[in-house]
Amino acid sequence: MRMVKPRIYLSPPHMSGHEQEFVAEAFRSNWIAPLGPMVDAFEREMCKYVGVPHATALMSGTAALHLALLLVGVKTGDEVLCATLTFSASANAITYAGAEPVFIDCNRETWNMDPDLLEEELAACTKRGRRPGAVMAVDLYGQCADYGRIEDICRRFEVPLIEDAAEALGATCNGKKAGCFGRMAVFSFNGNKIITTSGGGMLVSSDGEMIRKARFLATQARDPAPHYEHSTIGYNYRMSNILAAVGRGQLKVIEERVAARRRNFELYRKALEGVPGVSLMPEAPYGRSNRWLTCITVEPGEFSASREDIRLTLEAENIEARPVWKPMHLQPVFASCRRRGGDTAAELFDKGLCLPSGSSLREEDLRRVVDIVRNTYTRA
Ligand SMILES: Cc1ncc(COP(=O)(O)O)c(C=O)c1O
Repeated sequence: MRMVKPRIYLSPPHMSGHEQEFVAEAFRSNWIAPLGPMVDAFEREMCKYVGVPHATALMSGTAALHLALLLVGVKTGDEVLCATLTFSASANAITYAGAEPVFIDCNRETWNMDPDLLEEELAACTKRGRRPGAVMAVDLYGQCADYGRIEDICRRFEVPLIEDAAEALGATCNGKKAGCFGRMAVFSFNGNKIITTSGGGMLVSSDGEMIRKARFLATQARDPAPHYEHSTIGYNYRMSNILAAVGRGQLKVIEERVAARRRNFELYRKALEGVPGVSLMPEAPYGRSNRWLTCITVEPGEFSASREDIRLTLEAENIEARPVWKPMHLQPVFASCRRRGGDTAAELFDKGLCLPSGSSLREEDLRRVVDIVRNTYTRA
């Protein structure tokens, strides 16, 4: 009988050991609610780490994106320019605000929104006399978009910028941390992220008034009155005090987690060097990626097998790998949306594979993955 080896996951949660003490403290205080001292402290600690003055902790990154869009003034019928190579949550949030996404292709150097295409699209929108409600840039797989250019372009066209940094806590761009760009930025603490609260998110901004309004909307938009008074539609989006306790324990080790994920990347890079047709996601010269996921691209002509052959071989060995995000403009649900650019994102989807990247992976786990990738080549 063949022994099944333990499963290697793509990006499993990795506890620091500090979480349970914070959770116990939350229980002792009886703040078992979507507010409390752990939420306040987690917000303060995130502000300090990211280098932004204001933050509000929410139930998910998607909720944070929804509120960010509402707060920068996106209205029903607006267009919002969004990176096409992303997870569906970025584009879904645009539709929650009643707006229509317009998808912008990425470039090969960063895999993020191509600033030239963004500029072209904004110029075309101006010509048509229809200014978009916002631009949503995404920091893909833990690498910041090119904010040196994107911020400048958005300023010139007077369109608010939102940074979807859901995957990028701990990354940097031009000396500043992910989360410092645009009018508002968003983090996710979903179970697969670099740090997790099992599920959760955070909205951050340098504008305190916007964060105050976000908190108001996230707590059912209760007007100041002893009874329940409402003059605006609100949401139930706040983070639980218990989950904020988990987040505090996680945030303590964020730098170690970035270092571990970057180490994974380096090991893959060295071990796959010289394998024909295999390349790794490049690191942009303007910053540090947190290397949330290590992604490779596979040229089937040179490698003699496809990324799907590798993925299936890994799966047969009980190892989880995933194709790179399928671009939003290729998703049936967004098929009618406008888009700008060529087929860079589509090609990255075709050829791209995310390898197991958890910060708790051991060197022998990574070697198991590498050996299978190399063997797929040798066999082919
Ligand atoms: C780029 C991106 N945006 C938004 C989200 C949504 O975050 P959440 O799952 O916390 O709602 C995610 C991940 O889940 C993501 O990867």
